[in-house]
Amino acid sequence: MPDTPALHSRILGTGAYAPERVLTNFDLEKMVDTSDAWIRERTGIRERRIARDDETTSDMAHVAARRALEMAGLTPADLDMIIVGTVSPDMPMPACAAFLQRKLGVTDIPAFDVSAACAGFLYALAIGDQFIRTGQHRHVLVVGAELLSRMLDWEDRTTCVLFGDGAGAAVLGRSVGDGGRVLSTRLYTDSSLADSLCIRAGGSKERITPEALAEKRDKVFMNGRDIFKVAVRNLTSASASALVDARLSPAEVRWVVPHQANMRIITQVAQRLEIPLERFVLNIDRFGNTSSASIPIALDEAVRDGRIRPGDTVLMCALGGGVSWASALVRM
Ligand code: UT7
Repeated sequence: MPDTPALHSRILGTGAYAPERVLTNFDLEKMVDTSDAWIRERTGIRERRIARDDETTSDMAHVAARRALEMAGLTPADLDMIIVGTVSPDMPMPACAAFLQRKLGVTDIPAFDVSAACAGFLYALAIGDQFIRTGQHRHVLVVGAELLSRMLDWEDRTTCVLFGDGAGAAVLGRSVGDGGRVLSTRLYTDSSLADSLCIRAGGSKERITPEALAEKRDKVFMNGRDIFKVAVRNLTSASASALVDARLSPAEVRWVVPHQANMRIITQVAQRLEIPLERFVLNIDRFGNTSSASIPIALDEAVRDGRIRPGDTVLMCALGGGVSWASALVRM
C-alpha cells in the first residue's frame, strides 16, 4: 500500500474590516485624565477605530469574511465550518459565528465561537487547521472579531485608551504540492492570572446588579503590569517553540505578525527572538489593541500591500485574558 501523503492546510485568502470612526489620543484627552504623549510613549497607539451604534461584531466579521472569500476565489457555499474568536459576541448566546453564518447566507455547517481573548484568532486557526489535516473539512473560515468599545469603562484611563474595534478573517483550504501551508500551531493557557484581565460581572459568578453596574464590574478590568510581564516571556517562548516544531531558525522568518497590544511588548519580544523590528508587521498606532482581530487585520494589510508574498514564512503570536496565548507559523 503506498503511503497517503499527509494533509496540510494553507491560507487561501485574508480580509479585514475596521469601522470608519477614528478616536484619536487627543479626543481621549478630553474624556479622561490622559495625554497623547503618555499613550504614545507607553503603548505606541495614536488612534483606534470605534464601531457605529448600529454595528455589531458579526457585521464587522461579515465584511472581513466576504473579503477573505473573495481573495480565496470562493463563495460562502464552499465553506465547511465557521470559527469566530471573540470575547465580545453580538449576544452571550448564541455564538457570534451563528449570526455570521446567517449573514453569509449558508446553513447546516458548524459555526461556533472560541473564547481565548486576544489569542482567539490563533486558537480558531489552530482548530481549523486540525479539521483540514484530518481530511474532514476542505474549507474553514477563521475570524477574529471584537467590538470591545461597548465593554470598556470610558472613565477608566487604564483600559479605555488601549482598545479598538475591528475584524479580520482568513479562509483555510487544503495545501497542495509544495505550496503554502500551516507549519505549526501552539496553544497555551495559564489560569494563575485569570483575574488580572477579565469582565467580572455578567456571567454565572456575578450577576449584573445595580451595584455591579455602578462599579463598572460589567466592563473590562486589567492589571496591565501583571499581563505585561507574562506577555513578553510567553510570546517569546511560544514563538520559539513554533520555530522548533518547524525546524526553522528566526533568520528564516520573513515576517512576524504579532498581537498589537503594546509597542514595548513587541520590541522586547523582537529583541529576545533576535528578529529585527523591521520584519514585524505593525499597525498598533492606527488601530490600538483590537484583541482577537489584531493579528488578522495586520496580516491582511501586509498581504494586500504586497509586503507578505507567496512563499514567505510568517510567524504570528498573541496573548490575552486567561491568560491564553498562542503562536502559529505559516508559509503563505
Ligand atoms: O491584549 C491583551 C493583553 N494586554 C496587554 O498585553 C497589556 C499589557 N500591559 C500594558 O501594555 C501596560 O501595562 C499598560 C499600557 C496597560 C500600562 O503601562 P504601564 O507602563 O505598565 O503603566 P502602569 O500601569 O505601571 O502605570 C504607570 C502610571 C500610573 O500612575 P502612578 O501610579 O505611577 O502615579 C498610572 O496611573 O501611569 C498611570 N496611567 C496613565 N497615565 C496617563 C495609567 N494609564 C494612564 C493613562 N494616561 N491612560
